[in-house]
Amino acid sequence: MRRMKLMIPGPVELSPEVLLAMARPMMGHRTPDFEAILEECWSGLKEIFQTKNDMLLITGSGTAGMDAAIASTIKEGDEYVCITGGKFGERFVEMVKAYGGVPREVKVEWGRAVDPAEVDKALSQSKAKAVTLTHNETSTGVLHDAEAVGKVAKKHGALFIMDAITSIGGDYVKADEWGVDICIAGSQKCLVSPPGLAMVSVSPKAWEVIGKNKTRNYYLNLASYKKSMEKKTTPFTPSVTLIYGLQAALRAIKEEGLENRIKRHRLMARATREAVKAMGLELYADEGHASNTVTSIKIPQGLTDEDVRGKMKKEHGILLAGGQDQIKGKIFRIGHMGNVEYLDLMSVLSALELTLKKAGRDIELGSGLGAAQRVFLQG
Ligand SMILES: Cc1ncc(COP(=O)(O)O)c(C=O)c1O
Repeated sequence: MRRMKLMIPGPVELSPEVLLAMARPMMGHRTPDFEAILEECWSGLKEIFQTKNDMLLITGSGTAGMDAAIASTIKEGDEYVCITGGKFGERFVEMVKAYGGVPREVKVEWGRAVDPAEVDKALSQSKAKAVTLTHNETSTGVLHDAEAVGKVAKKHGALFIMDAITSIGGDYVKADEWGVDICIAGSQKCLVSPPGLAMVSVSPKAWEVIGKNKTRNYYLNLASYKKSMEKKTTPFTPSVTLIYGLQAALRAIKEEGLENRIKRHRLMARATREAVKAMGLELYADEGHASNTVTSIKIPQGLTDEDVRGKMKKEHGILLAGGQDQIKGKIFRIGHMGNVEYLDLMSVLSALELTLKKAGRDIELGSGLGAAQRVFLQG
């Protein structure tokens, strides 16, 4: 099987250190040695989430973390203000409905960021128990203003539940400063680990709500995770192998430094945006709120998804992401999260220029590369 260069918004390419860590022999999960690994992971994650709240590690993909957050806080008839504007924001709406709650949707035009005044209005017109936000809406490439949403949620005394699955570890997430009560991450994105782990931080205010809630689910029950966490363990057998990988990934993040890491992600994002614009392409997301971990780009008129993503895959072995739902076939997305560096990005941009030129676009070869290089030159 041909090895693909992954430029999708997760799973991302893993370092040899992470891969090797996962080849270690199995260990008992109820042992002091494994407890030490868990504690190291919890504390490393707290630094990245910028929180002093409890940290829980769930075996399951990012959606398991979202599901746990909703299932553990909701009871039938509860209203939740759900900010949508993309596929992942809508997932919260589906979950609230699945548990018998009433979603009060703040619908944002796809590609745009939420206006906090709209959230304020929705909260004033409802008795919402919580607000849900997808910090970095991967499907559209939009980064929402979580700090502003957090302030509005606090003003109304609502819980703030945030999916930070594609921002944590790649962009600023200040869970405590922004008042995020339940903050969710996934392993296979900017945390550069394999898929299969969800990380969830929970505030004292959220624990109060959870404590009073008669939760109807069993496996994804945050209260069970807390009880076990206090005994330095997990309620069920965790994925030991994935946690070995996470431990190695968190050590690498610490070595790079969170601030440096975020700067690198922002540089990659800027270089990508300038390069594609110089190639004559149009960004899909509002540039003032563009994601720093994934860039969404309109497929130019006259070309198809196959002409761009199909050729990038076949001719260059580069995997890009497509559009989802209503924007399927209309956009493509370049993921630049995790360990992506100058050479990774330049090779992808170079292949993209060639692909567009071969497809008949009137572009000057090197125009996108030059634009990216100028961004890198400025730093
Ligand atoms: C913002 C966001 N939320 C949720 C998810 C779902 O995560 P998972 O596929 O790990 O369940 C994704 C996956 O891409 C995502 O990008």
